[in-house]
Amino acid sequence: MKRLLIALAAAGLVAGSLPASADEAAFKKAGCAKCHQAEKKGKGASIKDMSAKYKGDAGKAMAVVTGKDHPEIDAKGDDLKKLVGYAVGAK
Ligand code: HEC
Repeated sequence: MKRLLIALAAAGLVAGSLPASADEAAFKKAGCAKCHQAEKKGKGASIKDMSAKYKGDAGKAMAVVTGKDHPEIDAKGDDLKKLVGYAVGAK
């Protein structure tokens, strides 16, 4: 049983650390990564912290990103939704 749990934990770790590929590239390209880094807080919160806070709820996070306190960004519409989804760990 213990061995099974360890195997499951290891599998989870591997899945969690796979590169997010296309989404990650888009996030960098759109300039989001200038302020939002993977693990460290920059001008904005880290992806790790935002994922923990919103648990993939891009709708809620959208309100902040499109709100008046968020710095100006170029992305909008579906593109922005994808970027925000990536930022908050939506699958
Ligand atoms: C110039 C720096 C900057 C850029 C570029 C930027 N952000 Fe932000 N972002 C911030 C700051 C600062 C906050 C906190 C604003 C607030 O609380 O209203 C924030 C907040 C957020 C939040 C909510 C985080 C929270 O803790 O509530 C999300 C999600 C987010 N940004 C996504 C994005 C996405 C997606 C992009 C690219 C399209 C982007 N940001 C580009 C600085 C930036």
